Amino acid sequence: MSIDGRHDLEGLQIIGAIVAEARDTMGAHVAPGVTTAELDQIGKDILTRHGARSAPQLAYGFPGTTCISVNDDVAHGIPSSQRVLRAGDLVNIDVSAELNGYWADTGASFAVGEVSHQDKELLKATRQALEDAMEQVTAGAPMNNIGRAVEKRAKRGGFRVIRNLCGHGVGRYIHEEPQVPNTFQPRDRTLLRDGWVITIEPFLTTRATMAVTADDGWTLRTPDGSRGAQFEHTMIVTRGRPIIVT
Ligand code: CO
Ligand code: CO
Repeated sequence: MSIDGRHDLEGLQIIGAIVAEARDTMGAHVAPGVTTAELDQIGKDILTRHGARSAPQLAYGFPGTTCISVNDDVAHGIPSSQRVLRAGDLVNIDVSAELNGYWADTGASFAVGEVSHQDKELLKATRQALEDAMEQVTAGAPMNNIGRAVEKRAKRGGFRVIRNLCGHGVGRYIHEEPQVPNTFQPRDRTLLRDGWVITIEPFLTTRATMAVTADDGWTLRTPDGSRGAQFEHTMIVTRGRPIIVT
């Protein structure tokens, strides 16, 4: 969506703060021995308390409130009481929800207990890739600057970017136009417009450049077992710096 006035801004800031609260509270409970179903319940309680509804459930019939993806599962992991987190795992928590017709989307990856040096670096590089990309967001700038910034940060850390997962327009629905690629697209001439509401969500891995759908029909994972991380914010494009609502 493109925002039109204070009402839209406030609607987005309200749902943005709710999904951010769920992301951070769930993240604070990440520990060895915790199941992904338990984390999901924490997120569900927060959304319910605010009267917000899970976006993946509402839009796609997803069998969980939030998406929780461990290690080589990089996105859309189904929360499960069978999936017990262990020290050394990486877990991604992605929370998106709707309230009063406004939708926001956010995600973050966390280390479970002590993780390898490479996994620590992967988390750092992915978080920094999102920061670098957000630096490029201003009205009139080429959208390609986002993908270029993500790729540059990945390369610097010795990591790769998953090419078939993108950021997206958001605000009046969970997935809107435009797509926001995490890689430079030579033929794309799109310019960012004042008022656009988009997500940026780089997915970096130790090796894979594509994610494939697992047998459960939902989980997106690397085909080679390599680990991934993702960080995501919802933001509003302005003539200056973006307004981050999550
Ligand atoms: Co998301
Ligand atoms: Co998203």
